[in-house]
Amino acid sequence: MNVFDAIRTRRSIRKFTPEPVSPDQVRILLQAAMMAPSAGNAQPWQFLVVDDRRLLERIPSIHPYAAMSREASVGILVCGDLSREKYPGFWVQDCAAAVQNLLLAAHGLGLGAVWTGIYPDRDREARFRELFHLPTSIIPLAFIPVGHPAQHPPTPERFDPSRIHHNTWNSPWS
Ligand SMILES: Cc1cc2nc3c(=O)[nH]c(=O)nc-3n(C[C@H](O)[C@H](O)[C@H](O)COP(=O)(O)O)c2cc1C
Repeated sequence: MNVFDAIRTRRSIRKFTPEPVSPDQVRILLQAAMMAPSAGNAQPWQFLVVDDRRLLERIPSIHPYAAMSREASVGILVCGDLSREKYPGFWVQDCAAAVQNLLLAAHGLGLGAVWTGIYPDRDREARFRELFHLPTSIIPLAFIPVGHPAQHPPTPERFDPSRIHHNTWNSPWS
């Protein structure tokens, strides 16, 4: 799959088969995540791999929109590490880029995944912090349930030229 096809056909997958995701596949996802760009190349991220079924089944009780975690083979908690920041505040963008790389890598491997947001919802942050014993310098940004897809959503068309401006705001691009 070339990079443009991967970007175009990636979709959020919320239904999974029971087939396991292998440790080698998880490693590839994390290699992709850690290749993301980051401000000052600070790489201010940490990843917590969750494959304990009891923990995966607890996730829906601490995140209202992560019920698919119950079916996922593995979940990856993507966190910002404030102790590694070079330019304060940019960790969110850096870690978001890592999440997108991870989602695209999952799609490239034929796996399915979905970004479930945590930060900046303070209650969700607190609940993830408690369940996973996160230190105070670590901020949970997103939880990514991953598995073999049991659904194949179609590719929507999202390209919208009216959102593109040319040289100055009031001039359309085409
Ligand atoms: C910051 C962020 C938070 C999201 N949180 C959730 C979530 O909590 N639960 C969920 O099912 N999907 C979540 N999504 C996925 C979006 O719903 C999804 O990306 C959007 O509907 C577009 O669909 P697509 O990913 O298939 O292109 C989140 C996406 C982003 C970027």
